[in-house]
Amino acid sequence: MRITMVGTGYVGLVSGACFSDFGHEVICVDKDPSKIALLENGVMPIFEPGLEQLVARNVQAGRLSFTTDIAAGVTNAEAVFIGVGTPTRRGDGHADLSYVFAAAQEIAAALEAQSVGASDLLLVTKSTVPVGTGDEVERIVRQAAPNRVIRVASNPEFLREGAAIEDFKRPDRVVCGTDDGIARGMLSQVYRPLSLNQSAPVLFTGRRTAELIKYAANAFLATKISFINEIADLCEATGADVQEVSRGIGLDNRIGRKFLHAGPGYGGSCFPKDTLALLKTAEDYQSPLRIVEAVVAVNDSRKRAMGRKVIAAMGGEARGKVVTILGLTFKPNTDDMRDSPAIAIIQALQDAGATIRACDPEGMQQAAKMLTDVAFVEDPYEAVTDADVVVIVTEWDAYRALDLSRMAKTMRTLLMVDLRNVYAMDEVNSAGLTYVGIGKRDSALSTH
Ligand code: UDX
Repeated sequence: MRITMVGTGYVGLVSGACFSDFGHEVICVDKDPSKIALLENGVMPIFEPGLEQLVARNVQAGRLSFTTDIAAGVTNAEAVFIGVGTPTRRGDGHADLSYVFAAAQEIAAALEAQSVGASDLLLVTKSTVPVGTGDEVERIVRQAAPNRVIRVASNPEFLREGAAIEDFKRPDRVVCGTDDGIARGMLSQVYRPLSLNQSAPVLFTGRRTAELIKYAANAFLATKISFINEIADLCEATGADVQEVSRGIGLDNRIGRKFLHAGPGYGGSCFPKDTLALLKTAEDYQSPLRIVEAVVAVNDSRKRAMGRKVIAAMGGEARGKVVTILGLTFKPNTDDMRDSPAIAIIQALQDAGATIRACDPEGMQQAAKMLTDVAFVEDPYEAVTDADVVVIVTEWDAYRALDLSRMAKTMRTLLMVDLRNVYAMDEVNSAGLTYVGIGKRDSALSTH
């Protein structure tokens, strides 16, 4: 099938490249000429494991190409996917849909300008958009292209950064929202490689249902995280161990083990933005989501609370102390710093007078744009020299098996605060360091 992807951000680029790997003929369109120039030279504008090879393979096979010209991009397309950003609108928390609407308008206008009698088009929103956006997209394209048949569907993505290609090719499910029989048939064709080897159920729903599934999924996952984070606090207060609690409840299949790792709070480009946008929808429809409200509030307060936890571990005083932060990105295997807990943690520590040194395998460049007065250091061993505490904020593999004895030799105060519970207390203690984890019996230090 001939597919065009509008937007070569995270979602657009990964989806476009994966569609071409399925065997479809794909054109990726982006307004930003510098991005297209990079892609044409085989350079990825984002860090995602395996993406560069995937793009190179499909470009070489002649199935994947890039352009800045939307009209040229959609000319021969059978299906056009919109994969542009939907950031949080400034001031009110609503999703900013201006890029989605502008893309719909441009696609329809380009089609309308082409010869009458050309074939129908399937227009699919992949971007995360609030319930009812498909209706508005349909209105826009009807107005801009009254002589063309454009079928509008919703096909939300569920890609995790760092595992996006795997998630695309081996998803738990694919959700396609449209009541139109022809659109359903075309979407079945698009995802045929997945149904052929029965690797994923393709779920057909109404368009509004598909739009809501995406938000409900993210809000539920965020709920699991805020839930286990509050349980972690209770573990610290009561002398229980959150990792054991998590395992103990997660082995119940009705609960499931995933997304029950206590930590410094969720971040990234999706959970914080999507939970807020869902709350706005709930407000608009006067149908409150009190659980999601609590999830957001718990997560917001948790990030700075982690800064206070580090200060408490240092005996309640941060002034004059050197804090080494290992891991800045919101999770490993990405360079994404958006809403990363590290930002609020570092700011809380700086406000209390601490000096910050920070390491991250991929995120230092992005972090430097968001933080001030932080010394960025490549090597974790160099970064802990004369430090008063080493704080694990992101569980990069590179920080999972550090030579703790080597660190202990150069640190000023022998203390580790492990906000991801990647180390066992015994091994840290035997290297000579005091250990403070999350939701652990001996880490019952005040965080509030
Ligand atoms: C998420 C969804 O997983 C994906 O389906 C959706 O399309 C986009 O949002 P992503 O933002 O890439 O993907 O990251 P994810 O791996 O889900 O992690 C989100 C945040 O939750 C990270 O900050 C992570 O550290 C945190 N998290 C995750 C926890 O604190 N504990 C957990 O158990 C799991």
